[in-house]
Amino acid sequence: MCDECCCDCGPWKGGLIVFGIIFGFLLFAVLLAAFGFVRRPAFVVDDALLTRFNLSAATSSFAYNLTLTLVVHNRNWAMAIKNTKPMDAEYKFDGQPFERIQLAGKGDKVGPGKTVVHRLSSGSESALVPTLGNAGVVEYRKESAKGTFEVEVAVTGEVRYTARYTKCKIEATCPLKLQLAPPGTTAVAFQKVKCKLASAEENCG
Ligand SMILES: *[C@@H]1O[C@H](CO)[C@@H](O)[C@H](O)[C@H]1NC(C)=O
Ligand SMILES: *[C@@H]1O[C@H](CO)[C@@H](O)[C@H](O)[C@H]1NC(C)=O
Repeated sequence: MCDECCCDCGPWKGGLIVFGIIFGFLLFAVLLAAFGFVRRPAFVVDDALLTRFNLSAATSSFAYNLTLTLVVHNRNWAMAIKNTKPMDAEYKFDGQPFERIQLAGKGDKVGPGKTVVHRLSSGSESALVPTLGNAGVVEYRKESAKGTFEVEVAVTGEVRYTARYTKCKIEATCPLKLQLAPPGTTAVAFQKVKCKLASAEENCG
């Protein structure tokens, strides 16, 4: 009886089975590493230049010129990141938004391991900041006296990763300290700023 059930199991076939099992485990491990864990994109401000930042308290608006380089890196080696909503960068002073710039449209993708460099150049004669209020004016005067302005870049969006159903909110904040440079300046020393991501939702890395 026993011989009968084992007659097929020569050493050769046993080896094949062991090989199959090992291969299966490896494949599973690779798929798990590739798609099992989401890594959120990294946002870094590489460079920034503020050449004008004049507040008109009467109209509650800024006359400003700001250029900056925002780098977005997809840290996943197998998963692309697809925007399910437009991705925006909002500029804020004292927590109050005065500009909003679209970084990527709905449907735009960043491939696995890829980096996208956004060179943002913006300026306005009167970028309204209606919520600045008296407290904001006080803060502006204080920073103006120092010659260094604290401007926050807030990135917001919603993305989906390859092979995932969940849509994940992206919220990153980049606090910049910008020394006001004379108009015509093309570059100033700037310390790179790594943006801080808001805590992730479930299944979003
Ligand atoms: C902005 O302020 C600077 C000095 O603070 C001044 O020289 C310049 O004329 C101002 N520009 C505008 C458009 O108000
Ligand atoms: C500053 O911004 C204004 C828009 O208000 C634009 O016309 C001007 O060309 C900008 N200056 C520089 C140096 O980019």
